[in-house]
Amino acid sequence: MIVLGIETSCDETGVALYDTEKGLLADVIYSQIELHKQFGGVVPELASRDHIRKTIPLIKSLLTNANLSISSIEGVAYTAGPGLMGALLVGASIGRSLAMSIGVPSIGVHHMEGHLLSPMLDSKKLHFPFLALLVSGGHTQLIEVKRLGEYKLLGESLDDAAGEAFDKVAKMLDLPYPGGPQVASLASKGTSSRFHFPRPMVNRPGLDFSFSGLKTHVKNTINQNQNKSGFIDIETKSDIACSFQEAVVETLVLKCKRAIKLTGLCRLIVAGGVSANEKLRVAFEQMADEQKAEVFFASPKYCTDNGAMIALAGALRLKSEEYDSLEIKVKPRWSLSDLNPIKPSTCIE
Ligand code: KG4
Ligand code: ZN
Repeated sequence: MIVLGIETSCDETGVALYDTEKGLLADVIYSQIELHKQFGGVVPELASRDHIRKTIPLIKSLLTNANLSISSIEGVAYTAGPGLMGALLVGASIGRSLAMSIGVPSIGVHHMEGHLLSPMLDSKKLHFPFLALLVSGGHTQLIEVKRLGEYKLLGESLDDAAGEAFDKVAKMLDLPYPGGPQVASLASKGTSSRFHFPRPMVNRPGLDFSFSGLKTHVKNTINQNQNKSGFIDIETKSDIACSFQEAVVETLVLKCKRAIKLTGLCRLIVAGGVSANEKLRVAFEQMADEQKAEVFFASPKYCTDNGAMIALAGALRLKSEEYDSLEIKVKPRWSLSDLNPIKPSTCIE
């Protein structure tokens, strides 16, 4: 079954074709970074308008790249939530209308389920049950995945998501949007021995996270190290970025290590935008080695938002004959634990 995936939940327009027999056939992504850069963050109304301009031309180039015609599409999956209301409505309206006009089923996909399944785009060998750490701009969640579509929330951030903390620290350091990769690149030039930031909530039991206190520590350190006119030298900035990154990574690793011990599960998926972070990947590999566990990531290209993960998640659901009614419905807030399990016969093992 060939499924078209459409992702428009935030600031990336992503479209892809996923074949349940052959895997990913093609994907195209357009990033709105240039559009939002001047405002230092995503402007929702501008995001929606740009998705309107870009989605259909992108689907056309996707089909050209895959050397397929529109009639080859056997199902359409679009991100129905969580995300920005207007942006989601663009993908949902285009996805639904296209599916109706060519007479194929369509389904609204949970964006975080897309992230969670993204490592399967490269490797189909994922055995259930496993743990999943989802680290994106809007979510930090630790999940027990019993089988496809059956998700139990073990812990989550009580305030800022990990990606959000990266983005806010980037702003404090006068780095351009989007902040995560910028902080990572600055951190690579610094040392973590000069400043020590707390590892939030690691001394308390449980699997929840909190990153807002860490952010305040960063702010205070910046204030203490700048001169009267607010200038702070690049070495100091790099050292702050390095210590901040290390604190986030260590906290995430520690909580996952705790989850491995508590659940006895020895397979862990780390997905979402922050999982593109190189230091994070190295630290998780090391922890997995020590714990005799296995860790899986998507390739860096598929860590951040993309249409391929939505096409994959939608394909699995459509193949198990799950599809939505004609109504165009999006859910800006939507819990993963509200999803239905996917019929085992369609699972990729
Ligand atoms: O998954 P994603 O593309 O969008 C959401 O679903 O939110 O994640 C975006 C987040 C942003 O906060 C961005 O700063 C962060 O992921 N991010 C990174 C890196 N690349 C993206 N954070 C740290 N290091 C990176 N290399
Ligand atoms: Zn995302």
